[in-house]
Amino acid sequence: MLNWEDPLAALKKNAVPPESTPLENDPPAAATARDTRQPADNAAGATGLEDIAMGAGRIRVDDKRIINCRADLNQLVPFKYGWAWQKYLDACANHWMPQEINMTADIALWKDPHGLTEDERIIIKRNLGFFSTADSLVANNLVLAVYRHITNPECRQYLLRQAFEEALHTHAYQYVVESLGLDEGEIFNMYREVPAVARKAEWALPYTRHLADPHFHTGTPENDRALLRELVAFYVIFEGIFFYVGFTQVLSMGRRNRMVGTAEQFQYILRDESMHMNFGIDVINQIKIENPHLWDDAFQAELCAMIREAVELESQYARDTMPRGVLGLNAPMFEEYLRFIANRRCAQIGLPEQYPGAGNPFPWMAEVLDLKKEKNFFETRVTEYQTGGTLKWE
Ligand SMILES: [Fe+2]
Ligand SMILES: [Fe+2]
Repeated sequence: MLNWEDPLAALKKNAVPPESTPLENDPPAAATARDTRQPADNAAGATGLEDIAMGAGRIRVDDKRIINCRADLNQLVPFKYGWAWQKYLDACANHWMPQEINMTADIALWKDPHGLTEDERIIIKRNLGFFSTADSLVANNLVLAVYRHITNPECRQYLLRQAFEEALHTHAYQYVVESLGLDEGEIFNMYREVPAVARKAEWALPYTRHLADPHFHTGTPENDRALLRELVAFYVIFEGIFFYVGFTQVLSMGRRNRMVGTAEQFQYILRDESMHMNFGIDVINQIKIENPHLWDDAFQAELCAMIREAVELESQYARDTMPRGVLGLNAPMFEEYLRFIANRRCAQIGLPEQYPGAGNPFPWMAEVLDLKKEKNFFETRVTEYQTGGTLKWE
């Protein structure tokens, strides 16, 4: 078993960056003749599409950096960020496909006019509406915005796997919509027709649009902060906060033996998503280690304000999807839960706690939220998946 040190642990120990940290304008040690062919105004790192530099010096591990690296991006090894490679391996070991999950009980329950309450039907439909387009938005953000600016092959390898998983997630939502015989136009247009669904996508879009602009390049403190801001917006907030009311609602139904196939799809997706978020957090922390000047007080305050705004938006989503109590849940419980999660996210990227004393009303969700238990979760469920078994509700 490989034992990679994660960036958060390194930050806590603090402190000395594991590799030498070049000053901002220092060329990385690997700078070779090939770099001189870059346009003078392009301070950004390599893309992987540069001309091949025949006979250039071989890549050394110290040449690698998460952003603004000029070394060849087409060579996966030697590894520098073992945590990224390990997450790629773990993600591949967790492979699943939506059509392997039995939807028969869900179809019968959905078609039975007395099978579900109207509130339960709202929960299923609203969450399919949110997630079916949200995962496409996340995938487009990865492929069109994030990937270009992450100048490290092992991180890119994980991003490619993540992008495929986002495609699987959109596939899963489409599969549920088709299985239940829902109106696909109604579900896939919710993010343009239902304000509670639209608001979260609207909040995130400016961040990805900024980075997807072909004229945007990292390489200045301002632009490097824009990348970090975008990584926080998508990995910590969109995937780490905006998904959690929906996940909890649908998983609650599964725990009550309702819509168990749909809930199982969501459980596999949550397992993937928690790894996406943890990868994003590792990337953010590694960029901090390599570029400590970016993480100043003003920037931290700005990120805290973003997280607080996100908690408000997601609390509103809880109220809109759950106007009355249902399944033993109600909107105030979600507000408390979101504060609890936000505290956790802040701690994970080294920001001050925002909601002292917030508790967790859904301790059963901790099975997949607690990092240590999450590891056990992976190990047990992966075995079950690989032997063709299904998830069990306890
Ligand atoms: Fe996803
Ligand atoms: Fe994701």
